[in-house]
Amino acid sequence: MTSETDHSHGAHGLGEAVAARVERRWATLSIVIVGVLVGLAAFFGIYHTTMPQGRVETADPTTLHLSGEFVESNLGSALEADGSVTVRAIGQQYSFTPQCLVVPAETPITIRATSADVVHGFLIEGTNINTMLVPGYVSDLPIRFKTPGEHMMPCQEFCGIGHQGMWGKVKVVDQTAFRNMAASKRRLTCVD
Ligand code: CUA
Repeated sequence: MTSETDHSHGAHGLGEAVAARVERRWATLSIVIVGVLVGLAAFFGIYHTTMPQGRVETADPTTLHLSGEFVESNLGSALEADGSVTVRAIGQQYSFTPQCLVVPAETPITIRATSADVVHGFLIEGTNINTMLVPGYVSDLPIRFKTPGEHMMPCQEFCGIGHQGMWGKVKVVDQTAFRNMAASKRRLTCVD
């Protein structure tokens, strides 16, 4: 809109008034949209922090090694009666235990992991597994690998001075090989 427009001349002035009205309407609408989005973000943010999650499993980080599911002898991969596999692991500054997880291909797998000290990241490259290991809580993740192979498993959450050296590995082997291994050992790992 230019200042030299003559406001006293009918058609021009009217056209400008209409344009101004439309523009104001759009401006109002965009402010309303921003307001609604901010309101929604605030509502759901507050709602989710005040409502408990559907399922929360806890594990005392100070007694992980002494009793319960995450004692050292129970870590690694376990073949369940229904043919599925449960993998249990711990993250601590600055490694994973076990450092190498071995799992069968084409098999439903549940990974259960927690932290013994601070928050660590848990990511398996080439899969959609990407979560955090929070001390006090159990992360429970379903996964299935299509083919045998190896995946890197870095800690992707800064956890201290040795963070960048915190890496693990997942080795996917074929079903028969896994079953053969499981026949002679209760908990399997690929740690040499
Ligand atoms: Cu553990 Cu970064």
